[in-house]
Amino acid sequence: MKFFVKKGATLERKTACLVLGVFEGKLKEEFLMQVDRQADGAYLQAIQSKEFSGSKGQTLLLHGGAQMVAERILLVGLGKESALTLTALRQISSDVVKFLTEKQQGSFLLALSQLSFKKSGFEERVQAIAEGVLLADYRYDLYQPKNQPGRPIQLEKVTLLIDAKMDTAKAKAAVSAAEAICSGVCFARDLVNAPGNLKSPEYLAMQAVSMAEQTGIKAQLLDQRELERQGFGATLGVAQGSERPPYLIVLEYSGGHADAKPIALVGKGVVFDAGGISLKPAEKMDEMKMDMGGAAAVLGAMRAAAEMKLPINLVAVVPAVENMPSGTAIRPGDILTSLSGKTIEVLNTDAEGRLILADALTYVGRYQPRVVVDLATLTGACIIALGHQAAAVLGNHDRLIRQLLKAGERSGERLWQLPLWEEYGALIKSDFADVKNTGGRPAGAITAAAFLQEFAAKYTWAHLDIAGMAWEERGQAGRPKGGTGFGVRALIEYLRAEAK
Ligand code: BES
Ligand code: MN
Ligand code: ZN
Repeated sequence: MKFFVKKGATLERKTACLVLGVFEGKLKEEFLMQVDRQADGAYLQAIQSKEFSGSKGQTLLLHGGAQMVAERILLVGLGKESALTLTALRQISSDVVKFLTEKQQGSFLLALSQLSFKKSGFEERVQAIAEGVLLADYRYDLYQPKNQPGRPIQLEKVTLLIDAKMDTAKAKAAVSAAEAICSGVCFARDLVNAPGNLKSPEYLAMQAVSMAEQTGIKAQLLDQRELERQGFGATLGVAQGSERPPYLIVLEYSGGHADAKPIALVGKGVVFDAGGISLKPAEKMDEMKMDMGGAAAVLGAMRAAAEMKLPINLVAVVPAVENMPSGTAIRPGDILTSLSGKTIEVLNTDAEGRLILADALTYVGRYQPRVVVDLATLTGACIIALGHQAAAVLGNHDRLIRQLLKAGERSGERLWQLPLWEEYGALIKSDFADVKNTGGRPAGAITAAAFLQEFAAKYTWAHLDIAGMAWEERGQAGRPKGGTGFGVRALIEYLRAEAK
């Protein structure tokens, strides 16, 4: 799909489809009266019959009257003008793409002129619109024929039409930002959607390396022998039940000053989580190919940051393993010695994410990061707490958490803070080792974070539990069924603010 930014008079351009936003309560604007004349009165008729009111996401497709320059005009409701958030714009633009591609329309002209942009906010609005388009145009069809009859088609060309007062260069920059961000989101979605038979830890490592080569990121892999040599006991413990060996993926992006401390991103990369000896139930176990959603978000954010050439230094650390039951798997009751030297009693082999993250969080300390953010599909308890509306954020630094909450809100990837009071730490003290890997059923998302905190005490740290957000079960406009790429947008929003 290609974006174009053009300047010109909205109702005078030839196009297969002109898309116009209409505010609720502003149905009689002059340009809409012109639309009505071009459509031989069909617009006012639709208003009178209450078929169209401009409510958010509503559509009205008008076909050409004798004077209509476009082949058709799609009116889309923007809702109340005062309530038009970035999230709403992104969603409406995804709705438009869904509507048109289902009708086999692959090109359209989207007019921005009627959005009375305030002085600020032009770029972020254009970015949100472009994101909505790109996110809705994504599909994972590696294993199916492309362009099946009756299915929505893929977009070819979208032209954003701006009016004389608007700044073309700014609009183009906003589109480029959206393209970079969504290339990261879609890369993450592809990784999550890849089936487990294809997606070995080695596959994840190779995908990371080739992405790094294409974007000018430095990549390094620690293989099993190296992990053994250095003492990644917790990671190796999880991996030992699988035939497929683990890797630690380390990426470095240097966009900032040579001596500036990096921001570190850590992502849980369990390519398939069967639970190990504490085997999961069969129902929905297929979804556990998404247990590397944190890794995908981190790799996607690295790609987006590099494509955007963010002036900042980044390190990404992704432990990639498979959690399987077998004769060589770890048992409940086993005690592992982590890279930090702390010993961990494994009470449940299905609480494997925190084990590999313990080592990764220790390892990343070597880079003297000024901030560490980890992302993980860590607990079912997080889904019980927040459902599929927000990821949980916890950490040891209030300002960092506030910055992440803000980035989440602005990017449309909601985060919600859970407490990490000291008292929770008592729940993961072990009788036989330094810590145990489960704290029982109460506050499961919090005790998981309390466990991670044991390994993140030396730096400013936040943890995002994205268990409820990495996978879309139903499929919606802009969020097709499967991997969502959740986290990339929030991370980039945070990193852009930090880079300023
Ligand atoms: N990967 C799962 C968490 C998960 C569940 C992610 C559902 C996405 C959807 C994690 O490894 C896990 O199994 N956690 C256990 C921890 C428990 C044994 C303490 C859980 O949440 O049940
Ligand atoms: Mn598990
Ligand atoms: Zn898991």
